[in-house]
Amino acid sequence: MELAEDMYKEELLEHYKKPQNYGKIRNCDAKYHDFNPVCGDEIEVYIKIRNGSVKDIKFTGKGCAISQAAASIATESVKGKKVEEVKGISNESMLQLLPIKVSNLRVKCALLALKAIQKAIIKYEGTKLQ
Ligand code: FES
Repeated sequence: MELAEDMYKEELLEHYKKPQNYGKIRNCDAKYHDFNPVCGDEIEVYIKIRNGSVKDIKFTGKGCAISQAAASIATESVKGKKVEEVKGISNESMLQLLPIKVSNLRVKCALLALKAIQKAIIKYEGTKLQ
């Protein structure tokens, strides 16, 4: 059991140390900067949207291992998905994508990237309506 837990922690740390989709997208369609007011950790997401789907996504940020690893995992998971689907991803589904179970205190860390992604899409849709 301990070995399995160590492996899951290791997987999370890998995402932290070598995050997928780290960087910026020039001329992105949607962008959002979000932060955790409790600690100041932050995430900025950049999304390229084509035909209603996430064509590409990148993020930058700084903060705890969980917030940054979750950003790596979240961006991987939404790539190619319809924006409608991405907006509907529940907090529970995001938490289940993580290789470890996070404590209640760390839930905000784990959801920071998902919230930024969803807010970026909502903001993008708002500007398109004007
Ligand atoms: Fe700040 Fe995790 S401690 S987001």
